[in-house]
Amino acid sequence: MFSSLATWTVVALAALVCSQQVAFDVAASVGTHPVSAGTFSQPKGNFSTRSLASITSEDQYLALGHPRFPAHQVRVKKSSFCDPTVNVFTGYLDVGYGAKHLFFYFFESRRDPDSDDVMMWINGGPGCSSAMGLLMELGPCNIDMQNASNNGTTWNPYSWNAEANVFFLDQPVGVGFSYADYGETIETTEDAAKNVHAFLTIFFETFSQFKGRPLHLAGESYGGRYLPAFASYVYDQNTVALAEGRDTLNMTSVIIGNGIVDIMMVYRGRYEIECGTAAFDVPFQSISNCVHMKTALPRCQTAMQQNCVDIFDEIGCRAAIDFCQNEVSGAFERSGRNFYDVSKPCLGTLCYLESAVIKDYLDQPSVRELLGVETPKNFSSCDSGVGRAFNQRLDKYTVPSQFYIAGLLERGVRMLIYSGTYDWQCGWYASKLWLEKLEWTGNAWYNLQDFRDWTVEGHKAGEVKSSGPLTFATIRGAGHMISLQACLAWVMMC
Ligand SMILES: *[C@@H]1O[C@H](CO)[C@@H](O)[C@H](O)[C@H]1NC(C)=O
Ligand SMILES: *[C@@H]1O[C@H](CO)[C@@H](O)[C@H](O)[C@H]1NC(C)=O
Ligand SMILES: *[C@@H]1O[C@H](CO)[C@@H](O)[C@H](O)[C@H]1NC(C)=O
Ligand SMILES: *[C@@H]1O[C@H](CO)[C@@H](O)[C@H](O)[C@H]1NC(C)=O
Ligand SMILES: *[C@@H]1O[C@H](CO)[C@@H](O)[C@H](O)[C@H]1NC(C)=O
Repeated sequence: MFSSLATWTVVALAALVCSQQVAFDVAASVGTHPVSAGTFSQPKGNFSTRSLASITSEDQYLALGHPRFPAHQVRVKKSSFCDPTVNVFTGYLDVGYGAKHLFFYFFESRRDPDSDDVMMWINGGPGCSSAMGLLMELGPCNIDMQNASNNGTTWNPYSWNAEANVFFLDQPVGVGFSYADYGETIETTEDAAKNVHAFLTIFFETFSQFKGRPLHLAGESYGGRYLPAFASYVYDQNTVALAEGRDTLNMTSVIIGNGIVDIMMVYRGRYEIECGTAAFDVPFQSISNCVHMKTALPRCQTAMQQNCVDIFDEIGCRAAIDFCQNEVSGAFERSGRNFYDVSKPCLGTLCYLESAVIKDYLDQPSVRELLGVETPKNFSSCDSGVGRAFNQRLDKYTVPSQFYIAGLLERGVRMLIYSGTYDWQCGWYASKLWLEKLEWTGNAWYNLQDFRDWTVEGHKAGEVKSSGPLTFATIRGAGHMISLQACLAWVMMC
């Protein structure tokens, strides 16, 4: 089944039909002055497209503007960070006349950067840095936990840039090395979408070598809320661009790992991981806790349905979530198990010892210089301010993410939903449940399919089923943060 999975993305993925080839007066203004925080000025000079290869300075940012986004500019420099086998670039998107700065890492594909697809990766949270995905999961290098290198990282042969040009974006502002000069915040996914779209548009317009290249939006966890909204915004803006005779972003697929999507399935899913056989052959939670959870579950579901779904009552919704959290998720949270991999103990920040080592590494002055980090703020794997702001707006609950997903599927955007089976936080069973319930024309066909095994080198790696542009795959024995061997498989799909 692996081969059919592999062909899934390789085979053109139903393009976003933008056959209309309109010559758009591409405009990137060029100026080599390093622009520091708060001193935004639209770069002077002739508008022109650039090739990334023409950017050779590791010390100075090249500032690139675009007439359609007069309040934005992208600054890029080369970097010797992480992967010596390819060209690496880092930079900032300056938003709002330089008030907000979004940091990104860009790695060329190890295979054929001039024709391979482009992928954007974002971590979840809300508030978590894409550096976590980069250094712990699918990036070109892993944080060095064994002190095996003298540079803090080790090369990752299974990185997704094996076959794709990959961005890691720290968004929204406040996350990772992204920052605001005057304390501006982004507090909703829908607002964040606008910055992501501006970033992608400026990038593809400026670096014309990527124009028309298939673009895949990928991420995990809270990415289940982010990506469907971002992709929908890109899709809708493409429609506007087409009508105005401008180029579109060739967004061909959305990839979500262990995502939070339909909030009504979260607690049922967790129950099945702990008290059912969704993770292990024998449930690991105590019978007495399971009875307590099973008793609380219908009340949790009813309260959420009434207060977060049927109507949106902020106070009632919050009370419902508190109840669910305490009565259904409380036992697990006190268990000492890893939230993201039930087979492991929870050790350290975010339950992984890697978190602290990544922070130490990224806080080193030499590494910050390598990256061109400008914020005085130290790195944190997940920014609590951003998390709080989104939570205050109840962003997770306000717009049902599955409606965006259905909208994208109906328009032929390919969607890969994948889940490690040992995750508790946004477990595979919750995904299974919402996918079965998802309202779209391919639903009946999806529900008629049986899961099939997919294998890597003859070993069962998980199960998969598809309907039209939708594929759901599980990865056996992987947690929330799918890494190493599991990536070997996914690389084939970019
Ligand atoms: C812009 O391009 C014109 C014609 O190619 C050239 O004469 C001029 O010097 C350029 N201006 C700048 C600021 O590079
Ligand atoms: C860091 O060192 C490791 C092991 O020596 C090596 O594989 C890797 O390529 C190095 N990374 C960089 C960015 O030079
Ligand atoms: C890592 O190795 C270097 C030299 O090989 C040594 O100086 C350093 O103390 C080691 N660091 C840790 C955390 O073990
Ligand atoms: C988008 O990518 C697909 C797949 O490579 C390709 O067939 C299609 O022509 C591209 N569309 C545009 C507008 O470039
Ligand atoms: C940031 O990290 C550096 C290096 O670990 C440390 O010396 C400094 O005190 C930290 N600054 C803040 C504001 O936490």
